[in-house]
Amino acid sequence: MAGTCVVGLQWGDEAKGKIVDLIGDEFDMVVRYNGGANAGHTVVVEGKTFKLSLLPTGVIRPSVTSVIGNGVVVYPPRFLEEVDSLLKGGVDVSKRLVLSDHAHVIFPYHMEEERLAESGGGEGKIGTTGRGIGPCYQDKVGRRFAIRVGELLRPDHLRERLRQVVPFKNRLMTAFADGAAGAKVFDPAAIADEYLKYAERIRPYVTDTARLLHDSVKAGKRVLFEAAQGSLLDVDHGTYPFVTSSSSLPSGMWSGSGLPAKNVTRIIGVVKAYTTRVGRGPFPTELDDGIDGTGERIRKVGKEYGTVTGRPRRTGWFDALAVRYTAALAGADEITLMLLDVLSGLPELKLCVGYEVDGERRDHFTSDAHILERCKPVYETLPGWTEDITGARKLTDLPAAARKYIDRVSEMVGLPVSVVSVGPGREQTIRVR
Ligand code: GDP
Ligand code: IMO
Ligand code: MG
Repeated sequence: MAGTCVVGLQWGDEAKGKIVDLIGDEFDMVVRYNGGANAGHTVVVEGKTFKLSLLPTGVIRPSVTSVIGNGVVVYPPRFLEEVDSLLKGGVDVSKRLVLSDHAHVIFPYHMEEERLAESGGGEGKIGTTGRGIGPCYQDKVGRRFAIRVGELLRPDHLRERLRQVVPFKNRLMTAFADGAAGAKVFDPAAIADEYLKYAERIRPYVTDTARLLHDSVKAGKRVLFEAAQGSLLDVDHGTYPFVTSSSSLPSGMWSGSGLPAKNVTRIIGVVKAYTTRVGRGPFPTELDDGIDGTGERIRKVGKEYGTVTGRPRRTGWFDALAVRYTAALAGADEITLMLLDVLSGLPELKLCVGYEVDGERRDHFTSDAHILERCKPVYETLPGWTEDITGARKLTDLPAAARKYIDRVSEMVGLPVSVVSVGPGREQTIRVR
């Protein structure tokens, strides 16, 4: 089987959703293996906009079975909300969506834990999405207080588990909030009642997804993996501690789905033509140049506001060092260059081709946040273009300066550019090879 993985090579929101949708019809299955509803993917098909957070982008394609793998953390009301909202829009996913019984469940106390941890302020703040992702993964690794999707389906067991877990969480959070004030207190019976209602609706989707994937691969089915977040947010290789709590690199595929990586032969790295980041953490090429500056212009034209939290995304120039680093970690075979149209009209463009740190020149990225925050970008300047490129469908439709920019990005990253995206629509795409 020749499986494929689509992975973001920056700090998320690279338009992975558009690429998954674009090539989705070449696959029988689309699998999410990490993260949860911290992701936000917007896909525009024939003028219709789909917003997905927890469900794989593959659900839009009628011929595809979408899989939420064991590595994902699931907030049941969110799962049902997305299923219902798709149904309202005429997309019935009930026969083509499955959820791993081994995926971990997010409870309201996870969100409260996160709120308390983030509201401490100062250096401890990460700028998370507030979706309970980190605390749920903490419980998964800690084992003693974790609850998996399969356990939701056994009512007596679930009630008993919550009777053990919730009082502990209440004590923990009260202590965390430095006394009772400010910390919410949860009732195990009320949570059980609520979650057992969700469980009945979720039950038909739940299965042993690892086994399903093994059987499907044996039967010759083609599988597409959809990474959430970006490689620079990977818990091991990202700009720690300003990262998410899962493996967003393709390394997460095997553990997060149960399908061995040897089944995947093509890795597509998705990048924006510039860089964005949401939340705290170092960002050497950030354009923090005020209300009339280029950073704000990119934010406005690119509609760079978080899908999940609505926060303005931080914007900056393309960092070739960062993408060369993540491309190597991801084992990317090619890159797709997204949102190129957003750069139209800028008189000149900058590409970060090196750093200066403590008076020394560096030609490689470091994920060490303490060093990275001292790195000053060394730029190469390229000419911009004024033409509207949103109607371009082949490379020769693009102005020479845009083609030069693409070539230089490709050269600096050391990978071919297989797709150039010039607008959110499925058709606003140049397939290079
Ligand atoms: P993801 O999380 O990686 O799937 O990306 P998001 O969906 O969070 O963010 C990408 C945004 O850019 C979405 O709103 C897309 O509709 C939009 N988009 C995708 N490709 C293009 C493009 O080529 N040009 C423009 N202007 N917008 C695009
Ligand atoms: P998609 O899939 C961009 C960021 C948060 C925060 C950090 C940790 O749409 O690309 P978390 O809630 O995961 O504990 O937050 O990670 N983050 C994302 N940034 N795109 C995402 O997903 C993100 N998912 C998490 O902003 O800085
Ligand atoms: Mg996103």
